[in-house]
Amino acid sequence: MNIIGLNGSPHGKFSQTLRLVMKVLEGAQDSGADIEYIDLSELDINFCRGCGVCYANGKCIYEDDYPELLEKMLYADGIVIGSPNYINNVTAQTKVVLDRMADVIHCQMFSGKYGCSVSTAGGSGAEEIANYLNRALHQMGASTVGLVGVNILGDPCAVTKKEKDASKLGTLLADAIINCEVYPDQEKLHRERAEYMKNLVLVNKDHWTHEYEFWKKSGDIN
Ligand SMILES: Cc1cc2nc3c(=O)[nH]c(=O)nc-3n(C[C@H](O)[C@H](O)[C@H](O)COP(=O)(O)O)c2cc1C
Repeated sequence: MNIIGLNGSPHGKFSQTLRLVMKVLEGAQDSGADIEYIDLSELDINFCRGCGVCYANGKCIYEDDYPELLEKMLYADGIVIGSPNYINNVTAQTKVVLDRMADVIHCQMFSGKYGCSVSTAGGSGAEEIANYLNRALHQMGASTVGLVGVNILGDPCAVTKKEKDASKLGTLLADAIINCEVYPDQEKLHRERAEYMKNLVLVNKDHWTHEYEFWKKSGDIN
């Protein structure tokens, strides 16, 4: 069982969000997972240009750190994403990665994976940010097991107080992977989205060649 944790904070080892991501990873590790932490702010990842070349050939026009990051995510059974709240949204370091993943969404490449999200905020909105990240993971095909959001509000112990919850979230993530947990509400949405994406790719099959071939290989398109 392999679980990776991404953090979109630019604060490196001083990141508050890092503390939550690490607790989730440690919780998963205690349940037997191999873990890896990735600081997104250390990666060189360009903005998506919306050119659609990845839909056509599965490769981006940019030669940067994204393909290796994607490889790691595709290899992982579980994905943890963390971002602080920056102006009521994820950080640019996080969003630049998500924007590169439209091909993953069209092909529902995270189908069968599990994920969860964490966030910290100076004042408010941490749970909303983590919820947004979980929705992004779900959109890619993953099932999500929960979230932890911490609004710090000047309390130096705010993150410490939630570390146990983050650790439990990691255990939950590992257990979901081990037991191939099924969440009926999420499954219904996955099925509906897969149907929608498959039809979208079919309509565009003449120029979205890679995505058409991907669905064909999965046996869902003749
Ligand atoms: C540019 C910037 C924008 C921010 N926007 C918000 C905000 O909209 N709401 C909020 O509650 N905190 C905001 N914060 C505070 C961060 O969310 C908070 O300090 C967070 O814990 C930082 O996490 P990190 O240490 O992992 O980077 C902002 C901080 C910065 C630097």
